[in-house]
Amino acid sequence: MPAGPATSVAPNHGEKLKVLIRRVAIQKRVREVAHQITEDFKGQRVHLVGVLKGACIFLSDLVREINLETSIDFIAVSSYGKGKESSGQVRLLKDLDSNIAGLNVIVVEDILDTGLTISYLLRVLEQRKPAALRIAALLDKPSRRLQDVKGDYVGFTIPNEFVVGYGLDFNERFRNLKDVCVLSLPAE
Ligand code: IMP
Ligand code: MG
Repeated sequence: MPAGPATSVAPNHGEKLKVLIRRVAIQKRVREVAHQITEDFKGQRVHLVGVLKGACIFLSDLVREINLETSIDFIAVSSYGKGKESSGQVRLLKDLDSNIAGLNVIVVEDILDTGLTISYLLRVLEQRKPAALRIAALLDKPSRRLQDVKGDYVGFTIPNEFVVGYGLDFNERFRNLKDVCVLSLPAE
């Protein structure tokens, strides 16, 4: 099927959406990342920990391309208040359902931005003694980093733009866009 317009979701007056990464490119890259994970953990089980809510779509596509025994769990944190800027403070909103001791844990994130969320999560999860602790992120915005963290599996490195779609939101909207799009607001 040809890639249709980005905006199956109508933006509000003055908001603009511009496609940054098309759905076919996302699909292809997700498959590559999954194959890399499959290679790296050959013969073992991986436990994917999705960071709600942004990572849910990436995780659901990723897990189906991993050719290993898998299990999944979710954790929720809040770092962003409303809007585009991080509050800088991370809070745990929902913990994991089960123990991760001895498991090969891959934390699945939508985007690495300042790095505050992921470094907080790594600190929390490390204490629970997983066998391995890795980071998979669909997107990486390294120019915004405040904490020195690197993703082990990164889909795309992007410039310093605010993006939505494929799980990423602006005030909870736009998660259902199939492409990753840059959102610009009227005041900008
Ligand atoms: P960090 O703690 O600054 O690395 O922020 C990570 C979280 O902020 C991500 O999991 C996203 O939920 C959110 N975030 C960061 N950049 C963007 C963006 O461009 N669009 C939408 N959400 C973003
Ligand atoms: Mg978010």
